[in-house]
Amino acid sequence: MKLTPEQLAEFDKEGFLFFPSLFSPEETKTLTDAVPELYSHRAPYNVREKGSDAVRTNFAAHMTSEPFARLARHPRMIEPVESLLGEKLYMHQFKVNGKMGFEGDVWQWHQDYGTWLNDDMMPTERAMNVAIFLDDVNDFNGPLMFIPGSHKKGVVEAKHDLTTTSYPLWTVDDDLIRQLVARGGDKGHYDAEGNYVPGGIISPKGPAGSMILFHSCLVHASGSNLSPWNRVAVYLSLCAVSNHIRRHKRPEYIAHRDFSPITCLPDDCLTKDYPVETPWKNGVPASALETSLEPFGSTVAPVDAQASEGATS
Ligand code: SIN
Ligand code: MN
Repeated sequence: MKLTPEQLAEFDKEGFLFFPSLFSPEETKTLTDAVPELYSHRAPYNVREKGSDAVRTNFAAHMTSEPFARLARHPRMIEPVESLLGEKLYMHQFKVNGKMGFEGDVWQWHQDYGTWLNDDMMPTERAMNVAIFLDDVNDFNGPLMFIPGSHKKGVVEAKHDLTTTSYPLWTVDDDLIRQLVARGGDKGHYDAEGNYVPGGIISPKGPAGSMILFHSCLVHASGSNLSPWNRVAVYLSLCAVSNHIRRHKRPEYIAHRDFSPITCLPDDCLTKDYPVETPWKNGVPASALETSLEPFGSTVAPVDAQASEGATS
């Protein structure tokens, strides 16, 4: 799937692209059906919500589950990012976030590249997030919120929040969020027909099977899910091969160490059983849990204000 010049211009301006219903209900179902098994494991790669058994995020499903291994090689996800970054990609991180009905907690305002730089020593922001909705996303089940254009700011100042949720996160403080949102049109407004015209916060919503592609410096968040409806979504973080991380400070199930380029499967790979490997199907190897503060290869200097323990973007 190639991006048009208009889409490239929109991505540059806004920092994201939304593709409603890019995957069919039949394709999406192969993934949704595999989620209960993924979430059933008592393993470090299943992080649960604070004070609840609901899974907040599952890491590395592409290493344990065949449908997700196929998604990780899907040309509709990989090719647009290759065309944006002009290079082959490897999988830096793979998550299936639960945001379960009544239980799904907030994701505070943050950007992902700050963590990838400071924890993983990823040299530049040449990495991208791609999200696929496995459930319909509506106003009530905690949709993602973006500050359009905020990616233009590069890495912004962040604080390590260890208490708000079960998940440590480098978060952006309210004053900076206020400024970024004001720049982008603040609250938005209602037009003469009573339709809301968005301003400095945008929330792509749509059916299961929709895809969002967003810049690694785009500031984003989501509210809690007070509705009865789950909002399961898959996130691929794809990094240009030459921009691979230079440190294994975090376990391999969070920040991957195989920098070989992704080879795409055919476009119908979610509905046909193309063979894929799932090397961690019977458990994550002990080596994947080993971590080190020592950089390797040519390195980049971490931003001191953000050097972190255990951040999880
Ligand atoms: C979300 O799933 O709502 C946000 C997840 C993230 O930023 O990683
Ligand atoms: Mn994020």
